[in-house]
Amino acid sequence: MPQIYLTGSGVFTPPYAISNEDLVTSFNQYIDQHNQKTGESLTHSSAEFIEKASGIKSRYVMEKAGILNPNRMRPFYPKRLDTEMSIQAEMALPAIKEALAASKKTAKNIDVIICACASLQRSYPAVAIEIQHYLGASGYAFDVNVACSSATFAIDIAYHMLQTGSANTILVVNPELCSSHLNFKDRDSHFIFGDVASAVILERKEVANQQADAFELLGTFLKTNFSNNIRNNDGIINATEDPEDTPNIQFHYFTQQGKKVFKEVVPMVSEHIQTQVYNHHYTPDKIKRLWLHQANINMNRLIAEKFYNRDITPLEAPIILDTYANTSSAGSIIAFHQHHQDFKTGELGLICSFGAGYSIGSVLVKKV
Ligand code: COA
Repeated sequence: MPQIYLTGSGVFTPPYAISNEDLVTSFNQYIDQHNQKTGESLTHSSAEFIEKASGIKSRYVMEKAGILNPNRMRPFYPKRLDTEMSIQAEMALPAIKEALAASKKTAKNIDVIICACASLQRSYPAVAIEIQHYLGASGYAFDVNVACSSATFAIDIAYHMLQTGSANTILVVNPELCSSHLNFKDRDSHFIFGDVASAVILERKEVANQQADAFELLGTFLKTNFSNNIRNNDGIINATEDPEDTPNIQFHYFTQQGKKVFKEVVPMVSEHIQTQVYNHHYTPDKIKRLWLHQANINMNRLIAEKFYNRDITPLEAPIILDTYANTSSAGSIIAFHQHHQDFKTGELGLICSFGAGYSIGSVLVKKV
């Protein structure tokens, strides 16, 4: 079997941070205005609740003023001409440049680009092909969407393409513009997401320029199981759903049954990653670190404790959602990007994402 290496990663962090306090202040202003206008009595949000229930303290976004304006409550991304770079391509490029530099490669070395994320800003042309154009890469590119598991599912595709020899070097990039599908007027979920882009370079060992800081992929493991507990109905069907002559297109946002997701996903994920580790004839104690999807700090602690069957140290399942919030498929990649430098040759780790679908994707890696 050819050896496949992850040789570089990169993260683009958007320019604006919003703390829980700032988010809640504007949300509560909106609620007060709404209640005054309608006579309803919707309840305030609370920064303490958000941190306690999720672990999130802050998030990064590509635009802040529209989100924090109680008369708008959504970001303002002015429509761009078709000839201008799209916002997701703009987010992707700095993450890619960092990943390329880490792997000592240039765009000319990339055979395939997979843009994998939970929400794509248009149906087509593929955002991946636009990224390919701006990078000046040859070969081909395509988009993949498996919600919060998009990055690991794309790594699985890349891994198998590299093994067959249909490509030597593949770029997986995750421009997660989560602020565009988050309902900032919904108390249950207005705090959940942040924007970010992450990228990884995967290659066959024989073409890897940089091997000192590389990780070998030992295997990928995917699972899906249909559930309506996390859903976004946005799509091409929306304009046809209104019976009136003049379509009144509604915004369709992310929705979830958070408690059910929490309860159902924790055992699924801990069993999934245990199975993968055992399938590779290892035991959990041989795994130095879990780079988990970043949705909820309590969920991650429980998953890791079930996996290791003991209390865990913070570095066994590092948390980045405190500053980034849930960044959809990029979360586990950011955790990897920020927390792999201390690995020694032969040490094992596992990247795992999970989310809507339900979907779970995990990637077992060994430090070269
Ligand atoms: N501020 C203050 N109180 C709030 C609130 C807010 N923003 N949102 C909800 N509450 C209240 C609820 O009204 C409820 O009050 P009640 O007990 O009086 O009825 C209470 O807090 C608990 O709400 P609940 O929604 O049950 O909270 P929770 O403990 O389940 O936490 C999540 C909510 C979303 C943080 C949590 O369920 C979660 O993270 N689940 C996993 C989600 C996940 O992994 N999704 C994957 C997406 S990629």
